[in-house]
Parts: sequence; structure tokens; C-alpha cells
Amino acid sequence: MMYNFESIWDDTIQKTPKYNKLNKDINTYVCIIGGGITGISTGYMLHKNNVDFVLLEKNKVCNNTTKFSTAKITSQHGLIYSDIAKKYGLKYAKLYLEANNEAISNIKEIVQKENIDCDFTEQDSYIFTQKMQYKENINNEAQILAKLGFNGFEVLNSTELPINTSYAIKFKNQAKFNPKKYTLSLANLIKDKMYEDSNVINIEKNGKSYIVHTPKYKVYCKKIVIATHFPIKDIPGFHFIKMYQETSNVVAIDIKDNTFNGMYINAETPTISLRSMIYKDHNILLVGGNEFKTGDLIQENKYSFLEKLAYQMYPDCKIIKRWNTQDCMTLDKIPYIGNFSKFYPNVYVATGFNKWGMTTSNVAANIIKDKILENKNKYEKVFNATRLHPIRNSKELYYNMNQTIQSEIINKLKIKKDTIDNIPINTGKIIKENNIAIGVYKDEKGNIYKVHPYCSHLKCLLTFNSQDKTWDCPCHGSRFDIYGYIINNPANEDIKTYF
Ligand SMILES: Cc1cc2nc3c(=O)[nH]c(=O)nc-3n(C[C@H](O)[C@H](O)[C@H](O)COP(=O)(O)OP(=O)(O)OC[C@H]3O[C@@H](n4cnc5c(N)ncnc54)[C@H](O)[C@@H]3O)c2cc1C
Ligand code: FES
Repeated sequence: MMYNFESIWDDTIQKTPKYNKLNKDINTYVCIIGGGITGISTGYMLHKNNVDFVLLEKNKVCNNTTKFSTAKITSQHGLIYSDIAKKYGLKYAKLYLEANNEAISNIKEIVQKENIDCDFTEQDSYIFTQKMQYKENINNEAQILAKLGFNGFEVLNSTELPINTSYAIKFKNQAKFNPKKYTLSLANLIKDKMYEDSNVINIEKNGKSYIVHTPKYKVYCKKIVIATHFPIKDIPGFHFIKMYQETSNVVAIDIKDNTFNGMYINAETPTISLRSMIYKDHNILLVGGNEFKTGDLIQENKYSFLEKLAYQMYPDCKIIKRWNTQDCMTLDKIPYIGNFSKFYPNVYVATGFNKWGMTTSNVAANIIKDKILENKNKYEKVFNATRLHPIRNSKELYYNMNQTIQSEIINKLKIKKDTIDNIPINTGKIIKENNIAIGVYKDEKGNIYKVHPYCSHLKCLLTFNSQDKTWDCPCHGSRFDIYGYIINNPANEDIKTYF
């Protein structure tokens, strides 16, 4: 596969476990769909409460978004508390903070209790700024945090970073870990319930129960948890209208010497996110950010910005890996966790983590476990997955809809007649050949790769991402490689190729 991303966490796993493919029809109480940190954490909680369940993973366990995470475990999700307080009031901001603080403690407790070797390390977390105008935003955030009664923060005039920083806010006692080791260890605790290579292609109502379909076998169950990152079912949840995906880039650099102690992210955009780790006995810094909306036309190399910053901080550093991946972004910056839709009772969803899924997956697992057990959960209302508020008041919604209309209708009319010969080397382009639209990528040796350039989700016209050599969908962020293989949902089928 051409798609050149490698997760640094993969290299830290000595033996990747293998689980069976679903090889018979099964009757159970709960079916969890998706084997990332969210699905596995939910499975772990159900296991601890003696609930009968199975977990179906389309590919391999922990082989998607989770394994590309920088894995900071923090309740410091950007300057979010002033935002939530403004939109929904102090009460919701406080519940959001408590839910995520509790998640940090829960993860620590799980790591200790289950004796999980995942490099869990407590560390302070900082939001810094290099622009004085953000000082006011940081001060605002501090005021709101004080009103919430939170005493785990501190405002600082400088940081230990080897770049110029003018102001920062610190959250004490946050943490970081190896997300792959943690998730695989939890999976191992529920190994009898796990099925890999078991792609869910449909969820069907069956009276008061459900049938979950994979291509060959079915799971009959009372309750379902959709933990597939982007929900695999569009209707009646309509999350595809209430979310978009954003791609973030990461470079891993070998800095030889010891680095600073905290985990950092800036207040402004483009994002700069920093965390250290030990890899093969070397001090490594993960420099992440410089995000873009998945499917936007990318013509420059997004890694360059991060690499320049890396060399500025550590002139002798060596870049050892690069990758990017995307997370689901909600329009009001609060994840969707809970009931999928009132028309599908007992189906639950956890999505829209806004790149903070390490704590949020734990929050989600707890809320969903309580729903399944019919317990009350005080955080449930904050994350309500059927809420419509963001639809009423968001500029991003307008941008989303506009882009969907462009890719569904307008751009399709703009495809020009052309010949493959006219396409330069190392370029991807959509052209009309014999009145048929084709997506063509010509590699550096002149080899041609042709795809049907319409997304297999809802048929939007794809764009060529020249940085990663992928076909990306501007509507809801599905991605395909140059061979037409799907690499990111919500699409669940490859696209046709013309080889
Ligand atoms: C660059 C980057 C850095 C990040 N850094 C941080 C960080 O520092 N801290 C933090 O808190 N968060 C961070 N995040 C966010 C975090 O990584 C994600 O929110 C989290 O990993 C999402 O986990 P998940 O289990 O929901 O999704 P995934 O890990 O994607 O798991 C979903 C699973 O569902 C499976 N699936 C999909 N469709 C089907 C189907 N039809 N049938 C069966 N299975 C299916 C997939 O194969 C996949 O294994 C970061 C995100 C990015 C992009
Ligand atoms: S991701 Fe929805 S149409 Fe492509």
C-alpha cells in the first residue's frame, strides 16, 4: 500500500494478539461494534459487571485512530471550559471537567488493578501561547475554572519549552501512556468475547431486539454499542450532519537528550502539540498538529511546518516517523455519547471526541455501561448524542453543508475532459475520459492508478490528497488509498478501480 503512515506504537508491541473471525451466529445481550479504545473500554466495563456481550472488529483490534494518537490523558481539552460555560452554562462545564478528571483517575486505577504495562506516567499538561492576544483567552479560561471550583490549575508567564512562549495555563497531575499497549491489554482481559475481521454491514431491528449483520454471520442481541469512530449507521442518528473529520499530522523526532517534563498544546491555530516518550531507549518527542479538514484540497506538505518547529527546538534532532490520522469533530466541541436515536432504543453511540478520546473513551464506556445496566449517570446529559443544539447555532454547520453540496453536485459538473498523458508525474487528478469521470494518480515512475472518484458512503466527489497520496472525501471524511481500499470510515466499502 502506498499510504505511508506508520504508528510508532505498533513498533512497541512484541506480539500482536489474534482473535477469531465471527464463524457462527451468536445470541448475546450486547453487541459492541468497533475494537478501538472506546469499544474495548466499554467491553472491559461490561465484563466487570458480568454482562453478556461480544465485540466485533472489522479489521484488527486497535489498528485505527487509537494507534495513531499522541495519547495524552488529560481533562485539558484546549480552552474548552470558557466555551462550554458560554454555550451551556457553568453547570455543564463543571460536569464536563469532573467527567474527564474522573476518567484520568479511572484509567490510573485500571492500569494499577490489572497490572497493565503501558508506560502510564503522570505529568502536568499545559496550554501555551506565542501570541499576546491569546493571553485574554487564557485569563478567561482561568476565571471560569476558578468559578468551577477547580484548584488543579495555575497560570504562568513562561514555560520550560525551548521556543518562545509568552503565557500558559497548567493542569496538574494529568498523564500519558502507550495507547496500543493499554488497549491491547484490556482486549486480552475480554479475549473470549472478541472477534476480528468481522465487518458489520448492517444493523436490523428485530421486534424489540436487533440483528447485527456481518457478511456471513449474525449476532442476535438486545442492545448495541456503536464504537466505530464515525458511526456506521447514518439514519436515524444523523451524526454525519452534526460532525466533520479533521486530520492532524504528527512527526516523531529523536532528540537524543532529555526533554522538558510536561505535555503541551498551543491555544492558537495551527495546533502545535508536544509530548515526549521513550522508544527503543531513545528520547522521542511527538510534535503534532497543523490540522486540516479531511477532504480539503491539500497542496503543501503539512509535515514541513512541524518539522521546521522540531529543528528550531532541537537543531540536531532526527525525524524517525511521520503519520496523520483524523478524528470526528462536533460542532459544539462536546462528544456525542449515549442513545443513538429514539427510533432505535437500546442502541448507543460514542463519537465526536474532538481529538481527546483517551479520557473521553473512558467517560463513554462508563455512561454506556450505566445505560445498559439501567443505572443513573450524572454526566449523561452533557454528552447527549441526540442533542440538536449545535445544528441551530453553528457556522461550521453552514460550511459543512456548503461543502457537501459542492462535492455532491457542483464539483461533479466541473470535471473537465482531459487525457491521462496530460497529467504530470506524481500528481492526482479527476478527469473525464470517454465521458466517464475517473480519478487518476500518476506516480513518480509514470505508473497509473485509476479509481472511480465517488465516495462509497454517499457518493460525494473525492479530492486527491497530494501529501499522503490518498483520495479523501470532503463531505464526511472517508479516505481511500490509490488502489481504492478504504482507510477511514464512515464509508464501509472500497471504491471501484480501473486497472
Ligand atoms: C493525530 C491525533 C492525535 C491525538 N492525540 C490525542 C491525545 O493526545 N489525547 C487524546 O485524548 N486523544 C487524542 N486523539 C484522539 C483519539 O486518538 C481518538 O479520539 C480515539 O483514539 C478514538 O478511539 P475510537 O475507539 O473511538 O476509534 P478507533 O480507534 O478508530 O476505533 C474504531 C474501531 O471501529 C472499527 N470499525 C469501524 N467500522 C466497523 C464496522 N463496520 N464493523 C466493525 N468494526 C468497525 C475500526 O476498524 C476501528 O478499529 C488524537 C487524535 C489524532 C487524530
Ligand atoms: S464520507 Fe460521506 S460521502 Fe464521503
